[in-house]
Amino acid sequence: MSLTQLRDAGTVPPAPKITTHTLLDRKSMREPITALTAYDYPTARLVDEAGIDMILVGDSLGMTVLGYADTLPVTVEEMLHHTRAVRRAVRSSLLVVDMPYGSYHVSEEGAMANAIRFMKEGGAEAVKIEGGTNRESLVDRLTRAEIPVVGHIGLTPQSLHRMGGYHVQGKSFAALEGLRADALAIEAAGAIALVLEAIPREVAALITQELSIPTIGIGAGPDCDGQILVFHDLFNLTFSPSAKFVRRYGDAAELFRRGITSYRADVTGHAFPDDAESYHLPSTVREEMRSADLLPTYEA
Ligand code: KIV
Repeated sequence: MSLTQLRDAGTVPPAPKITTHTLLDRKSMREPITALTAYDYPTARLVDEAGIDMILVGDSLGMTVLGYADTLPVTVEEMLHHTRAVRRAVRSSLLVVDMPYGSYHVSEEGAMANAIRFMKEGGAEAVKIEGGTNRESLVDRLTRAEIPVVGHIGLTPQSLHRMGGYHVQGKSFAALEGLRADALAIEAAGAIALVLEAIPREVAALITQELSIPTIGIGAGPDCDGQILVFHDLFNLTFSPSAKFVRRYGDAAELFRRGITSYRADVTGHAFPDDAESYHLPSTVREEMRSADLLPTYEA
């Protein structure tokens, strides 16, 4: 029996629940935090059952599963749809959901209402928002409304057009000072963790030392308190070249391509399905068919 079947049969006790406090404990114990994105039931089950600490329903789903060019078109309804599917799968990991572009940019009241939807309707345990000092007041407000917040600074994909493309951030002294200020502001506002994306290793290491909340890096070097990657990047499912920081752990695209090609060949070559993959009448009914001369030609 596979782990999944044992879990379904209720014979495997779920792994201990990861909470916002577990992430802080991990930092103080210097145990790396593991995080991955997931956007649907099967991948979320696999990630949860593999013992990954944090699952992010990232707005990267706009590109990875919805086929948009970037994250900007993703809506609250799309995020909720995927979050519910992931929620049904997750038992142990901490479930964090990205607030998509536009869902927290109009007013703090609007942001609060959307975040509450992610908690109540999506079953999220925390929300992630992009930005630094400009989000300090919102992070504070969400936190005071019992909504744990994960911050995200550095390369923030929702700022694609302001940044003029996807570029490594924090490369000058002034820029790194800006990132430090952003990180300290988000921590002071009450965030439970901070994602650092595409910034130099030195800057990520400094911010990690300076903060008491955990940093979770993506393209930010090995000195962060944890690491996150996009699930589809790990398994070559993005149909585009990977960033430098992506490490591939398998080639699902090739596996699927080979499988689909074989299936097509089997169907067109009359090799699928075979007799063993077919349902059959009870022998008594077959005999009745034979007597009535109704047996089809393949076994007449
Ligand atoms: O949307 C996403 O997947 C993210 C991660 C890359 C951190 O924000």
